[in-house]
Amino acid sequence: MNSAKNALNQAKLTPNMGLKHRNTFGLDAIAELAYEITSAEQLPCLLKELRSQNPVWRVLGGGSNVILPNQLPGATLLMNIPGQEVCKSDEQNTWVSVGAGVNWHEFVAWTLEQNLPGLENLALIPGTVGAAPIQNIGAYGVEVGEYIDSVEAFDSVEQAFVTLSQAASQFAYRDSHFKRNPQRYIVTKVIFKFPKTWKPRLQYADLAKQFNHSNPLPSAKDIFSAVCQIRSQKLPDPNVIGNAGSFFQNPVVSNEQHEELLKQFPNLVSYPDSPGMHKLAAGWLIDQCGFKGQRLGPVGVYEKQALVLVNHGGANSTDILNLAKVIQEKVMKTFQVQLEIEPNIF
Ligand code: EPU
Repeated sequence: MNSAKNALNQAKLTPNMGLKHRNTFGLDAIAELAYEITSAEQLPCLLKELRSQNPVWRVLGGGSNVILPNQLPGATLLMNIPGQEVCKSDEQNTWVSVGAGVNWHEFVAWTLEQNLPGLENLALIPGTVGAAPIQNIGAYGVEVGEYIDSVEAFDSVEQAFVTLSQAASQFAYRDSHFKRNPQRYIVTKVIFKFPKTWKPRLQYADLAKQFNHSNPLPSAKDIFSAVCQIRSQKLPDPNVIGNAGSFFQNPVVSNEQHEELLKQFPNLVSYPDSPGMHKLAAGWLIDQCGFKGQRLGPVGVYEKQALVLVNHGGANSTDILNLAKVIQEKVMKTFQVQLEIEPNIF
């Protein structure tokens, strides 16, 4: 009995594992020690062992927001914890618990089948449920943090399981407490809270256009289908052409700088952000610099969306970062705005 239990608690180890099909950029990275994590119970022992041998480690979910080097030394934890279930319901809300390894888009589709609307604007985002709170994924006016009740994680500093509430997770634009503390938390489960009252969120231009004056209002499933359609038109399918979605964050500048830029560039695309600040559309800035469809060696700027860098085949992380640098320098020279890289550089 005990040995059976131990076997279950042991993460499967594969040395020198190729990760080309485990990162959406399609980079040919080799993980020195790849551990497949299928249960949270595997983590305390494994982390203790890794710590005693002192190797570096990192977690890889769907690999849709990472830039991998050719060689990943130490341990790579492949997050595969499964499971999704409705765990509680009262008059106002329904709570759902989901394993960190569950595919994000399949989870969103499942919530709609369960008649739990809310995440439809986030359809077709590549990656896993465990990665969603780390960068607080967002699209079409909705951010995942709004629907997260709590996040369960293994805290590698305290060597203990912890539950962080929505407030403790400190969600912000493409940011969270987890992202600000890299190498600390391994997200194992996310608890979502779906309010029973639901209203379509159509303020984002692409969706507003699609459902202009729709009567009756679209259902969550209608929005889900529309978002899938819009995303497939604008963003490259990573199964066809390697990419990591938006490569840069939309930069936030002071109102003064925004005013100055508007004088020079009356067509500037921007949105009011936190008080005193404006958010600029990085895609527009890059597009204006003439990068759309351009190539530098095996990498390039996607022809339909300048915010996305693509791997035309055989690229490595250096090729990607070289192109990123050329773009950052040109945008800085033209607009005096610093673009920050969005995916994690491992
Ligand atoms: N634009 C251009 N040229 C381009 C790209 C964009 O002029 O090549 C202009 C568009 O016309 C639009 C504005 O820039 O006026 C904004 O572009 P878009 O609507 O495509 O959205 P985005 O700011 O580029 C953000 C998220 C996406 C998310 C979409 C939809 C970030 C960094 N990106 O993109 O998230 O899907 O909004 O909500 O916030 C991701 O993070 O991987 C991602 C895809």
